[in-house]
Amino acid sequence: MRLRDAPGRANGLVVPTRQRLPLLFECALDVIARHRAASEPLDRVAAAVARAHRLGPRERAALGDLVFAWAHRRAVADERIGEALARRGGRAPPVRERDLCALLLAQRATSGAPDARARQALDASLAALLHDDAPAVGSALPAWLDARLRAERDDAPALLEALGRPAPVGLALDPARAAVDELVAAVGAQGALAVPSPLLRSAVRVLGRVRLARLPPALRDAVWPMDEGSQIIARALDARPGERVLDLCAGAGIKARLLLQTGASVVAADLGAERVERAPSAAARVVTDGTRPGLRARSFDKVLLDAPCSGTGTLRRAPDLAYRLRDDDVPGMAELQGRLLGAALTLVRPGGIVIYATCSLLRAENEAVVEAALARTPGLARTSLSALWRDQVMLDDEGAGELRLSPHRHGTDGFYVAALRAP
Ligand SMILES: C[S@@+](CC[C@H](N)C(=O)[O-])C[C@H]1O[C@@H](n2cnc3c(N)ncnc32)[C@H](O)[C@@H]1O
Repeated sequence: MRLRDAPGRANGLVVPTRQRLPLLFECALDVIARHRAASEPLDRVAAAVARAHRLGPRERAALGDLVFAWAHRRAVADERIGEALARRGGRAPPVRERDLCALLLAQRATSGAPDARARQALDASLAALLHDDAPAVGSALPAWLDARLRAERDDAPALLEALGRPAPVGLALDPARAAVDELVAAVGAQGALAVPSPLLRSAVRVLGRVRLARLPPALRDAVWPMDEGSQIIARALDARPGERVLDLCAGAGIKARLLLQTGASVVAADLGAERVERAPSAAARVVTDGTRPGLRARSFDKVLLDAPCSGTGTLRRAPDLAYRLRDDDVPGMAELQGRLLGAALTLVRPGGIVIYATCSLLRAENEAVVEAALARTPGLARTSLSALWRDQVMLDDEGAGELRLSPHRHGTDGFYVAALRAP
């Protein structure tokens, strides 16, 4: 695959003559083109391109880093490129050339030096954007989301900045089979910086990459990747041995796996059959619409509602999401979340606990959903999260019964979690 096949000069652009780009850039341009054509999530497209090119683990990681750096910066990069081209005048260069320039701007912003060989493929006006003294390209969210977060949150500047930085890897472990110190040492031996989680008694935070398949066999099956925020949500249910607990939107059961460790009897339900099939078989798995689940009313001690949401709290890992989401998608999500919470409240026994959680940063999907449920359900009350997660989580909700987790404050993805006690 070549940037250009025809040699020479066209439209004022210096066209590279039969010059191959480094494979990393060929792959990254391929990812961007497919992502644009199919509007498929970036990670899925990147995985498919990596497979097609038979990339090794290191090359895959480099491809992931590059396209994610691009995704965080594409809006700002496009603006700079547009300005440079307007100054230069003449016909617009092919999209592929603009994409290459955007990739190099992202590479320069994240790892300092843009690839010299790839840079040669740009015409002088675009290459000038990569000079050492040219301003760096920071990350950006679509204007509607940026404006909404700034209007809703006092901490928006720090939050927005943190959403453009790479996320640490959270590891959950089965404490009966693995110890935190042992896991920290084993991950450290791979060259990554691993530390005991500052938030959870039984979790590890890794800065850098970890290859779970390379852990010693005794650890491998006792450890799985799970953002610390997700672990905190599962711990908030305070499931106990013998209790009947429902994970109403269980997906592939990542939280259900943690719930099962407690000795509770877990029902994992989800609308998606192909998802819930992947949940641990030790849970009873049910395919159902959580808004009318067909499960016996008041039959659960505790219900976890990890609601489908905009996913705006996960933008560090899925920056392309922000460009697939529209402002007017949010009311529909909030409406579904309200109906799911209403159904969850019918399934829990009197005095039982419902945990409502999302990975959204938006008030409409979080506080507003819980406030509406409180307003329409006599006797429903908030209850302290700290009392529920006891010594498992080193965070204090000061009795509020709700907490926002944020990348800039906690190092987790952005989550909202609230605890409700049924009348
Ligand atoms: C945030 S994800 C859950 C992730 C999961 N709890 C975990 O930790 O792995 C939300 C889930 O809600 C499911 N969902 C969406 N609409 C639903 C509905 N009406 N009823 C039940 N599940 C639904 C989606 O299939 C998705 O798996």
